[in-house]
Amino acid sequence: MWTRYLAALLLVCAAFAQEDMPPAGRGAGRGGRGSTRDFLGLGPPPDAAAAARGEKLFAPNCAFCHGEKARGASAPNLVRSALVLHDERGELVGPAVAKGFPDKGMPAFPNFTPAELADIAQYLHLQVELVANRGTYKRLNVVTGSAPAGEAYFNANCKSCHSTTGDLAHIGARYEPDQLQNRFIWPAGGRGGGARQKVTVTLPDGQSIAGTIRKIDDFDISMTDSAGVYHSWPRDSVRIELEDRLAGHRRLLDKYSDADMHNLTAYLVTLK
Ligand code: HEC
Ligand code: HEC
Repeated sequence: MWTRYLAALLLVCAAFAQEDMPPAGRGAGRGGRGSTRDFLGLGPPPDAAAAARGEKLFAPNCAFCHGEKARGASAPNLVRSALVLHDERGELVGPAVAKGFPDKGMPAFPNFTPAELADIAQYLHLQVELVANRGTYKRLNVVTGSAPAGEAYFNANCKSCHSTTGDLAHIGARYEPDQLQNRFIWPAGGRGGGARQKVTVTLPDGQSIAGTIRKIDDFDISMTDSAGVYHSWPRDSVRIELEDRLAGHRRLLDKYSDADMHNLTAYLVTLK
């Protein structure tokens, strides 16, 4: 999981790094010639009609694990997936979805038609496009905000989950500013992703058991409870609630103004 994430991150960073040196000189091209898709080294623009059809398939079948708008929940954020970024017309996404990753917790979806798989791929590409468009502007202005304003924003919105002397101590020394910005905007897929997904299973008699998922597919769910005891049930016989660790971050994603993001970055880079 970690190596896959790292590969995706490197890919995105490599795409950024290339664009970072336009022939006319650094910074000259803001909002200029290159489109966001060139900027990210992405393929053809998504087809809006296909993406809208794909959304209707994604919501009931995939959002449960990959999160609303594919931004990650118990399963990886697909907006930053190397597989999705390399795909153009569903040639990589289609087979991955049809076969699934049954040993890693993603069921196969053998019943989608090729056209449906292509629509799902377009939906994912549209999500990449939407996130990338916010990224363009930020990338070129990454440390221009106000650190004191960022600190105030942090104290109001982040302190309930993070500490600058605990988990985020020296975060400014661990990442380059633009990577750091990516980390707080889209942390999904980092440490403790799908492999240690917490879950609460409610049995038909109303008893609830909390623990960590071992395996989940179309038919069965297995987990280890807090005492370390292994359980397994047919999936349709129990109610499953996954803990959404990154819910806080997805809520913030819709809330940040561009100024908030710049200010936060300016503050976090001071945490050396
Ligand atoms: C039960 C949870 C679950 C469901 C439902 C699910 N996935 Fe997944 N998916 C996963 C997990 C876990 C992985 C990561 C597998 C791994 O670690 O290699 C994954 C991986 C993927 C990948 C590959 C990402 C990469 O970078 O390698 C794609 C693409 C994907 N899923 C798309 C979908 C789509 C589209 C749907 C709905 C049709 C879907 N998934 C439904 C759990 C799920
Ligand atoms: C509701 C809880 C919650 C809130 C609120 C929250 N975060 Fe997070 N944050 C998390 C979780 C969970 C992770 C994933 C940690 C992991 O992967 O182990 C995370 C990851 C991160 C990371 C990546 C850390 C790393 O080492 O790569 C950064 C940076 C971060 N958050 C910054 C912020 C900032 C800045 C805010 C406020 C604007 C914020 N977070 C608000 C829960 C939260």
